Amino acid sequence: MSGILEGKRILITGVLMESSIAFHAAKLAQEQGAEVILTAFPRPTLTERIAKKLPKPAKVLELDVTNQEHLDRIAGLVKAELGGLDGIVHSIGFAPQDALGGNFLNTPFESVATAMHVSAFSLKSLTMSLRELLAPGSAVVGLTFDAQFAWPQYDWMGPAKAALEATSRYMARDLGKDDIRCNLISAGPIGSMAAKSIPGFAELADVWNHRSPMEWNMADPEPAGKGVVALLSDWFPKTTGEIIHVDGGLHAVGA
Ligand SMILES: NC(=O)c1ccc[n+]([C@@H]2O[C@H](COP(=O)([O-])OP(=O)(O)OC[C@H]3O[C@@H](n4cnc5c(N)ncnc54)[C@H](O)[C@@H]3O)[C@@H](O)[C@H]2O)c1
Repeated sequence: MSGILEGKRILITGVLMESSIAFHAAKLAQEQGAEVILTAFPRPTLTERIAKKLPKPAKVLELDVTNQEHLDRIAGLVKAELGGLDGIVHSIGFAPQDALGGNFLNTPFESVATAMHVSAFSLKSLTMSLRELLAPGSAVVGLTFDAQFAWPQYDWMGPAKAALEATSRYMARDLGKDDIRCNLISAGPIGSMAAKSIPGFAELADVWNHRSPMEWNMADPEPAGKGVVALLSDWFPKTTGEIIHVDGGLHAVGA
């Protein structure tokens, strides 16, 4: 039986460790028949090491989404490798330490601006730098952490995720006419590098132990990866501007 991404060419950002949601998205995408190309930050060597654990080889390209030169050259490099693209996975988030961990009221704008640039604006800048390669029927998929609520410790990543969610809706608005979809997976807490950099992340994650309708395993990024692959596939052909929760159902309950 062929996989749900058979013949698709997918660029995946955000593979840093085996705990990265993007690593699981890449693994599952390859298993489902996709040809995958990875981008790396801060160094290709780290991502190349993790990429060896994927079922198939994957080329790694350096990409810092705040570096305009990197954005300007990425399409040429991807075109040389794959000819075109059928999907992009944006699995990128960052906020400086003083924008996290209960310092919300004191964070300077420079730190807020960095969080917004890396975590939200980059969904647009990355997609548009690859726009010429995206075939009709392509899907852009990003990762959010439910921005409807103010969470403990999450601080300015919250407004950054709210900006990401709104950016995704506007991208859906503007790219729909070209048959390009843009959707997000809203994942529950995963013990990745990004999570570990949030002081007090355990307190935030503990909310799931008490309130999640389904049992939630913070050490398992695979459910989020499966959601990403589903949205990349042809099985959501008329879904765009959507946010699918892969959070054990926590978003649905009040207490
Ligand atoms: N871990 C969680 O609890 C959780 C929950 C919901 C959503 N998310 C989101 O999932 C996505 C992936 O995070 P993760 O949990 O897999 O952690 P991760 O640390 O494995 O991945 C974060 C990635 O962001 C990349 N990155 C940071 N700055 C960058 C830059 N300037 N240019 C390019 N890439 C850059 C890092 O290289 C890293 O690969 C993020 O958007 C994150 O906010 C995570």
